[in-house]
Amino acid sequence: MTTAAESMELTRVGPGTAMGELMRRYWIPAAISSELVADGPPLRLMLLGEKLIGFRDSAGRVGVMDHRCPHRCASLFLARNEENGLRCVYHGWKFDVAGHCIDMPSVPPHQDFKEKVRAKAYQVTERAGIVWVYMGAAEQTPPFPQIEAALLPREELTVVFAQRSCNYLQALEGDIDTSHFGFLHGGHIDAAELAADNLLRYTVENRNPEYYVADSDWGTTYAAYRPAGNGNLYWRFANFLFPFWTQTPQGEFPYQVDIRAWVPMDDTHTMFVHISWNGRKRAIGTVKKDGSTLHGFGFGHNHLPNTTDWYGRWRLADGEANDWGIDRRAQQSSRSYSGIDNIHMQDQAVTESMGPISDHPFEHLAPSDQMVTRTRRRLLLAARALRDKGVAPPGIVHPEVFYASRGGFFFTAPRNDWRELYGEQLRVAVRPAEKVLE
Ligand code: FES
Ligand SMILES: [Fe+2]
Repeated sequence: MTTAAESMELTRVGPGTAMGELMRRYWIPAAISSELVADGPPLRLMLLGEKLIGFRDSAGRVGVMDHRCPHRCASLFLARNEENGLRCVYHGWKFDVAGHCIDMPSVPPHQDFKEKVRAKAYQVTERAGIVWVYMGAAEQTPPFPQIEAALLPREELTVVFAQRSCNYLQALEGDIDTSHFGFLHGGHIDAAELAADNLLRYTVENRNPEYYVADSDWGTTYAAYRPAGNGNLYWRFANFLFPFWTQTPQGEFPYQVDIRAWVPMDDTHTMFVHISWNGRKRAIGTVKKDGSTLHGFGFGHNHLPNTTDWYGRWRLADGEANDWGIDRRAQQSSRSYSGIDNIHMQDQAVTESMGPISDHPFEHLAPSDQMVTRTRRRLLLAARALRDKGVAPPGIVHPEVFYASRGGFFFTAPRNDWRELYGEQLRVAVRPAEKVLE
């Protein structure tokens, strides 16, 4: 079980917390590049419990800094974004993207001390059409992680952000919890309704698969396996990658260049960031063999318009206030198992319904939760090793460990050497980022 003390360590992400300090060692995806327009309005960004301002200067460079002006703390959200800098509207002090004070017009020239003033600015890079922020100490800046999807150019990717109102950990755990798929998403499906080649068939014919779980260089991995007819096995691999990334098995392994982040905005709000290669092949066939549509498999995200609020970006229309759009008649008639039609919203509903931060000592973890348990332990041990011994967490010294990580499904003859099997599959997989790494 996870104790109350461990739960605190795992879920708190503010400055000075064990997990917050671990996450501050990594590059963090913070905004879609198009959210910031040259000389456009500054953007409120909440990251790891810190209130930040993002802006793009006249030359197109991005700055991300504490929202408080270092003069007397007026919010730089109100600032004028002009001529390669943010000018505070209170007394006109101006800052460049690196945080240097470049103008101090409220002070007589002979008393000017602008070279001594720095806004608290963080390092920024833009990759994959995303603005990434590094919030740790400058002398420990890590290389960019070699996460395959994040290395690709924007035009080869689909990038989606979606906010969730709960702690990052319970949101993330939805992605590495293989046993929920046959219930939350597919509990209403009768295998007899599906065509013989529909992959959902194996999932709903066996709703409690066996699986291997292990630590890996990038975090943790599971390999679930089920009988797939003709004596073959249907394998589904998924990963947790430090510090908040997942790869799910929902796609054909050779093409599954895909990564999902659960970025903590603060302890009780999380930004889902999905970076997906456009060459991947979708897993779920949502047509029954009689040609009708399988319900409960709605895709996509029904976003509200963004607002300038600290929590105003990439919100979804449904939430606790409308019971996540649950339709009790659809639930009762098993049109869908949950009564919620959209897959992302099904996960959103169950994880948000746990409360802002799940009460971990209240849980009864089962053998089927071993991936969740192991991932919590991996995170805890890494956060403690960093805090107590200064040990860099996975992927910092060796960013290339992420490149060996992929989720997805495939079929084989029966075997149990699942690690070798994984290596074999990866060697023949499509690697679109190879050209970027050369
Ligand atoms: S508070 Fe920003 S210039 Fe004075
Ligand atoms: Fe799910």
